[in-house]
Amino acid sequence: MENLFQLGDHEDFFSRRCIWVNGPVIVGAGPSGLATAACLREQGVPFVVLERADCIASLWQKRTYDRLKLHLPKQFCQLPKLPFPEDFPEYPTKRQFIDYLESYAKHFEIKPKFNECVQSARYDETSGLWRVKTVSSIRTEVEYICRWLVVATGENAECVTPDIQGLTDFGGQVMHACEYKSGEKFKGKKVLVVGCGNSGMEVSLDLCNHNASPAMVVRSAVHVLPREICGKSTFELAVLMMKWLPLWVVDKLMLIMAWFVLGNTESYGLKRPSMGPLKLKNSMGKTPVLDIGALEKIRSGDIQVVPGIKRFSCGQVELVNGQKLDIDSVVLATGYRSNVPSWLQESEFFSKNGFPKAPFPHGWRGKAGLYAVGFTKRGLSGASSDAMRIAEDIGNVWKQETKQKKKTTRACHRRCISQL
Ligand SMILES: Cc1cc2nc3c(=O)[nH]c(=O)nc-3n(C[C@H](O)[C@H](O)[C@H](O)COP(=O)(O)OP(=O)(O)OC[C@H]3O[C@@H](n4cnc5c(N)ncnc54)[C@H](O)[C@@H]3O)c2cc1C
Ligand SMILES: NC(=O)c1ccc[n+]([C@@H]2O[C@H](COP(=O)([O-])OP(=O)(O)OC[C@H]3O[C@@H](n4cnc5c(N)ncnc54)[C@H](OP(=O)(O)O)[C@@H]3O)[C@@H](O)[C@H]2O)c1
Repeated sequence: MENLFQLGDHEDFFSRRCIWVNGPVIVGAGPSGLATAACLREQGVPFVVLERADCIASLWQKRTYDRLKLHLPKQFCQLPKLPFPEDFPEYPTKRQFIDYLESYAKHFEIKPKFNECVQSARYDETSGLWRVKTVSSIRTEVEYICRWLVVATGENAECVTPDIQGLTDFGGQVMHACEYKSGEKFKGKKVLVVGCGNSGMEVSLDLCNHNASPAMVVRSAVHVLPREICGKSTFELAVLMMKWLPLWVVDKLMLIMAWFVLGNTESYGLKRPSMGPLKLKNSMGKTPVLDIGALEKIRSGDIQVVPGIKRFSCGQVELVNGQKLDIDSVVLATGYRSNVPSWLQESEFFSKNGFPKAPFPHGWRGKAGLYAVGFTKRGLSGASSDAMRIAEDIGNVWKQETKQKKKTTRACHRRCISQL
């Protein structure tokens, strides 16, 4: 226990359950945490996964709508070491993806510690160890002590709910897109959908399909691309073209192809940003919308496109152009944010917005055994490559040190709860 006794603030240390983890602690059991755990398992490195929810992939299981499908072809969405089943369609449904993740966790014997929300994590310089404090749903506090910390809490950990003037006086139903399941309950209702990212577009489409009347707030420019061009995934085409052509050329070609398939989106109130879709994604992290039918509904007038919001009042919204709309409900499809700054006490590797400071591809490894997986704004394929790198990095050190330890057999009294 020599390392543990060297830790600072002793009183705090002895007042809660304290567990030594032989290997890394992974925070988050979403696709990123699971992929890292699976790759560590293959390297023979033990680990512990801490998850605030009561299930794996809680974003997918609890905070997404029913009609959701992966919007990239399946080969770009599977996690390392275990492909999707062959009979999966090109764009797996949310249920299929969750089933795959469940079998993935089972296959690699990943058993996260559920209902454990990480409250804080800090590096203890004296001992050279990470101290990770959690609180469980029954308010029990536990402190995990480990040498490596893998942050896998996701780019979309918390909902962004903007403070819009008068929203509290509105009186009707207001929900974030993460609570929206289906348009069934909105039949015949006038719904204001705030935001025109992939969520705003798909929620608006779903509302239409359930005979509701959505008005979608588009306050700035947005790139809408078809999900497929001539039967080939737009994303796949872009990946292919980028092997041969510079990014700005690919951007130009994408926009020409989008124009042929979708027409001039500006004529429907969807102004395009001056920067191309791929450059915008790479530099600002803003994902283009991959259209799966919303544009057709905008064209037909079933989805009304409206400008930014000035204020809400009882049963009404006033827009920046002075127009007033009577509405029954509001869906805030206003996006998500990382929650890392709320619990990780570190400011060198992560910036204030909860993303690693180093640009891609350098944002996966920090100092003192700190790692980040799934923060490159490259979706599931980005998370998979981070996971493989992290596991290899930790695995190399692990193998070297366990070889040495076998030679110099030392007594070890630490309580080990790792899953190996
Ligand atoms: C509606 C929607 C659709 C999407 N569709 C696609 C798609 O088709 N393709 C694609 O590539 N990407 C898509 N994404 C992006 C999505 O973020 C990734 O697919 C994927 O979920 C990222 O995995 P992750 O593990 O990094 O994050 P998450 O899936 O968010 O998992 C993070 C986990 O960490 C847990 N956690 C957070 N904070 C704590 C804490 N303090 N303590 C303990 N646990 C914590 C969370 O409960 C969660 O289970 C979509 C996102 C949304 C919102
Ligand atoms: N099928 C799929 O695979 C699928 C489906 C849904 C989501 N996703 C993914 O999930 C992630 C999140 O997507 P998202 O659509 O939820 O969020 P998002 O891409 O961040 O979009 C948020 C939208 O809300 C708008 N907004 C924010 N605050 C506003 C305000 N006060 N007034 C008016 N508009 C406001 C933004 O406008 P500005 O641009 O002006 O800020 C933007 O249009 C993305 O990576 C996305 O690709 C994927």
